[in-house]
Amino acid sequence: MARHLITSAIPYINGIKHLGNLVGSMLPADLYARYLRGRGHEVLFLCATDEHGTPAELAAAKAGKPVAEYCAEMWAVQKDLGDRFGLSFDHFGRSSSPQNHALTQHFAGRLYDAGLIREVTEHQMYSPADNRFLPDRYIEGTCPNCGFEEARGDQCDNCGKLLDPTDLIDPHSTISGSTDLELRETKHLSLRQSAMRERLDAWIDSQTGWPVLTTSIAKKWLHDGDGLQDRGITRDLDWGVPVKRGGEDWPGMEDKVFYVWFDAPIEYIACAREWVDAGKGDDWERWWRTDKGAGDVRYTQFMGKDNVPFHTLSFPVTIMGSGEPWKLVDYIKSFNYLNYDGGQFSTSRGRGVFMDQALEILPADYWRWWLLAHVPESSDSEFTWELFQSTVNKDLADVLGNFVSRVTKFCRSKFGEAVPDSHDRYGNLETAYLLQVQTRLRAYEAHMDAIEIRKAAGELRALWVLGNEYLQEAAPWASFKEAPETAAMQVRFALNLVRLYAIVSAPFLPETSATLHSALGTAGGAWPEDAESALSALTSGHPFTVPENLFAKIGDEDREGWEQRFAGTRG
Ligand code: 2FM
Ligand code: ZN
Repeated sequence: MARHLITSAIPYINGIKHLGNLVGSMLPADLYARYLRGRGHEVLFLCATDEHGTPAELAAAKAGKPVAEYCAEMWAVQKDLGDRFGLSFDHFGRSSSPQNHALTQHFAGRLYDAGLIREVTEHQMYSPADNRFLPDRYIEGTCPNCGFEEARGDQCDNCGKLLDPTDLIDPHSTISGSTDLELRETKHLSLRQSAMRERLDAWIDSQTGWPVLTTSIAKKWLHDGDGLQDRGITRDLDWGVPVKRGGEDWPGMEDKVFYVWFDAPIEYIACAREWVDAGKGDDWERWWRTDKGAGDVRYTQFMGKDNVPFHTLSFPVTIMGSGEPWKLVDYIKSFNYLNYDGGQFSTSRGRGVFMDQALEILPADYWRWWLLAHVPESSDSEFTWELFQSTVNKDLADVLGNFVSRVTKFCRSKFGEAVPDSHDRYGNLETAYLLQVQTRLRAYEAHMDAIEIRKAAGELRALWVLGNEYLQEAAPWASFKEAPETAAMQVRFALNLVRLYAIVSAPFLPETSATLHSALGTAGGAWPEDAESALSALTSGHPFTVPENLFAKIGDEDREGWEQRFAGTRG
């Protein structure tokens, strides 16, 4: 048994997340957390809302609410949707928490003392019409890199380049639209990332087995010259973590807050503290401080590829630069993008399917299965309604659902609702299937251990297929006529397969797993040591009930209706 700390990139507070967001970090992180818990490991799985920065302020303004009120409401909405999708966070925190304020200010103090934060005098865009500076998304203009006309002050959404508001061509205020902008002098803090280049390089080189996507992005940023520039970590905004060092005021920084990307990853740590303060745990440092027991924790982070530079470079600068024994990440699992029907999912344009809408249509497991089986691991992948329909119908309804239904209904009609009595031991056919189950099970575990999600989904599906193949070959309905004892043994074998599926499918399909366990009267059940003992767990006389139809097939009319409903943008 080992201890695993798992974090998912924390979703922005500004609105309900779409399925692309979900599959890009939270859902795969949940899969891994559930799997490791299933294998008996101690897991702390954390996520939170990312509440600061201009996107939060702009969204609150659009909703006509004070930003603190808006964030509190949206946190509750996101928490509820996460619960309904079965995301098994040990704590779902908030980057605006007092714990994160304190910790962010602590790190800033340490970095300043270490000479890694400098005070710089800068020229920032000021809008007299708005009577304020215009950081990040309060300003838009043409990208100097690719010519995209709606580039934001902090980043171009088209080419991904990180920008400074002063880089934009023909800029305007997104508050008033004013183009009457001027440069004004103001003091800010800059994180001297460049001073850590060699240390970061050596650290990344020392990581073996990281996904190519992760290391290639990190290396590109380290060596392109563009990525590891010193970065401004303060902003002229009201909403955020006030700039202080430790608990002390920072002269000249009175009206400023830290940049959202400085405090967001620190929330991974603060969240553990929130978890303790909420009475759910008793020692957060045991997970985060190597001098307090976190030395034997394995820490895995999940995120979309756009987040990789912040997790391989900026956040490690914060951690290492503090000079304190904080836990560094051991493995970064990153993902490409999921596209929607020939284009991108988009929060701002309301394009695609959002978490609340998905659950209006179908239960979480349908979505979990499709998304995880098509997770954009080695390249971008695409959601289409046709693919969704065929995957659900084939894998869930025809393979898993059909097997469970056939065996439980057959048993009920011939023997009643209990594992039938039989003195027959498993024969050659069962032994042959046992061996196949054993091989597939070990392959499934190996893929899950390596967080190779598509391959793991493939093995799980192959395990389900074995059940149907076994029934087909054993044909208990035929043996029942001549040798009811043999049929009873075959049904016992098949019912044990149902129990095995309930256990090993739980990381992908938690609701279905619970339904199966409740039908079989097997609360939980330990992860199978080996196929032979796992498939002998249910013995004659063990009662069960026939579960309701596990999965409904998606009809063509449904698919067409949804295609139309989600063709436009969300109102
Ligand atoms: O890209 C995003 O959705 C960010 N809110 C992720 C932040 S992850 C971390 F650094 F906290
Ligand atoms: Zn651009």
